[in-house]
Amino acid sequence: MTGGVRRSRAARLTLHALFPTTVYTRPLQRSGVAALNRQILKESRQLREDDAAGRRWSAKNYPGGYTSYGSAHHLQRVSPTFALLQKRLDRHVKAFSAALRWDLAGRQLEMTDCWVNIMGREATHGLHLHPLATVSGSYYVQVPRGSPGIKFEVPRLDRFVAAPPRLRGARLEERPWVTLPAVAGHIVLFESWLRHEVVRHPLAAERVSVSFNYHWS
Ligand code: NI
Repeated sequence: MTGGVRRSRAARLTLHALFPTTVYTRPLQRSGVAALNRQILKESRQLREDDAAGRRWSAKNYPGGYTSYGSAHHLQRVSPTFALLQKRLDRHVKAFSAALRWDLAGRQLEMTDCWVNIMGREATHGLHLHPLATVSGSYYVQVPRGSPGIKFEVPRLDRFVAAPPRLRGARLEERPWVTLPAVAGHIVLFESWLRHEVVRHPLAAERVSVSFNYHWS
């Protein structure tokens, strides 16, 4: 399949794959990621220690885990480590924007929010999107074997009136849900309207990620 057009020889059909949903995954950087991850881990655990309001928020909204989403979500402004992470992420967001052929009209995509998520046993992150943001994503810091990936939902699900399910062999872009694996040292970027979730984390070993929003400003 090239250029979104697929030709089926048997049926002599020309199929147009319109309105793709584009998700970007890549390693954050070529080398030196282990030292950065160690530092992010250290600071994330320290933050959990210090952030009583965040622990309370998490107990209510994120059972089994800790997130600074409700309490400390400008980490790029308060920690040089997270500021460095932002610098690295900026380049990827730029590449993603170029791949999407966005015309930013001289304006910038800027990181507005950045927070940590530590999933312990039984933590889940239900279906959600990131309202008001343009690009959202996660950077994976620590992913124990057996940790869930990030699951995306087709954005047209509310219009699936009488649509049959997909065959077992359906390609990735034809499925209504797609899970991409979480890989330590890698990032995932997507448009902020795309709903996603992280299913139940079944392990005692913690899954640690940093999530963020970019606004077009
Ligand atoms: Ni999210």
